[in-house]
Amino acid sequence: MTAAQDTGDFAGLGALVTGGASGIGAAIATLLLARGARVAVLDRDTASAPEGTLALQADVTDDAAVRAAVDAAAAEFGALHTVVSNAGIGAIGTVADNDDAEWLRVLDINVLGMVRTARHALPHLRRAAADRPGAVSITHTCSIAATAGLPQRALYSASKGAVQSLTLAMAADHVREGIRVNCVNPGTADTPWVGRLLDQASDPAAERAALEARQPTGRLVGADEVAAAVAYLASPAAAAVTGTALAVDGGMQGLRLRPATP
Ligand SMILES: NC(=O)c1ccc[n+]([C@@H]2O[C@H](COP(=O)([O-])OP(=O)(O)OC[C@H]3O[C@@H](n4cnc5c(N)ncnc54)[C@H](O)[C@@H]3O)[C@@H](O)[C@H]2O)c1
Repeated sequence: MTAAQDTGDFAGLGALVTGGASGIGAAIATLLLARGARVAVLDRDTASAPEGTLALQADVTDDAAVRAAVDAAAAEFGALHTVVSNAGIGAIGTVADNDDAEWLRVLDINVLGMVRTARHALPHLRRAAADRPGAVSITHTCSIAATAGLPQRALYSASKGAVQSLTLAMAADHVREGIRVNCVNPGTADTPWVGRLLDQASDPAAERAALEARQPTGRLVGADEVAAAVAYLASPAAAAVTGTALAVDGGMQGLRLRPATP
């Protein structure tokens, strides 16, 4: 046992983070661990799962594999209190640019992946809620793309819009069971995913500058900043918070700035 597992606000809690081997998910897993949780990472590629986590290789499109991983985490920790459904992929283009197969592939990962994770976690979460009221939750990694119209992101935005609506419906369904359901809506975050996007741009430096300028804070969001928001939503301190979408987007959704004067 680490010191945090004795004294942190997640002490005694078992957590599962999907997509926890990279970027935002890895930052979430690392933070929950530091705050005392025992943390399992469900990822299709666990090679980079943060040290100290229980790495469970599974693809969120594989219902049986998700069930096995969720059950394994609950068995290892004795209980599952915190589920963070974060695994997701991007998609570029207008509504005309992706064929049906690509739409189904992205929705299968980004939306149904969260459905499968929740479906198999719920029996464990219900049991945990009886012991630790207020400390049991599901948090989805949604996106600014759910609430703002971004160019060239039709499919990705549709998937994240579905995630935000799913969050609300699940929050209503499970509030009386003591299970809170929320999402975070990051703006463009500095992760390996965005690094890959920049690498594909004809002028990566100009593309990065454009993404930074799109956020009123003038910089990309840090994965650790998203993790802090997720940890808040999942923590016992947020016992009264359910059905909420917490923007971590450098002001991108809500602010309307005038151009900076030179
Ligand atoms: N980076 C951003 O700008 C940004 C902004 C808003 C929302 N998000 C969301 O944050 C989440 C994480 O993104 P990130 O930037 O950290 O990306 P990332 O590519 O760095 O990490 C994603 C992780 O998910 C895993 N994953 C992908 N598909 C999977 C599958 N089918 N089964 C199991 N695991 C799978 C990957 O292996 C990887 O470890 C995604 O849901 C994404 O939509 C990202």
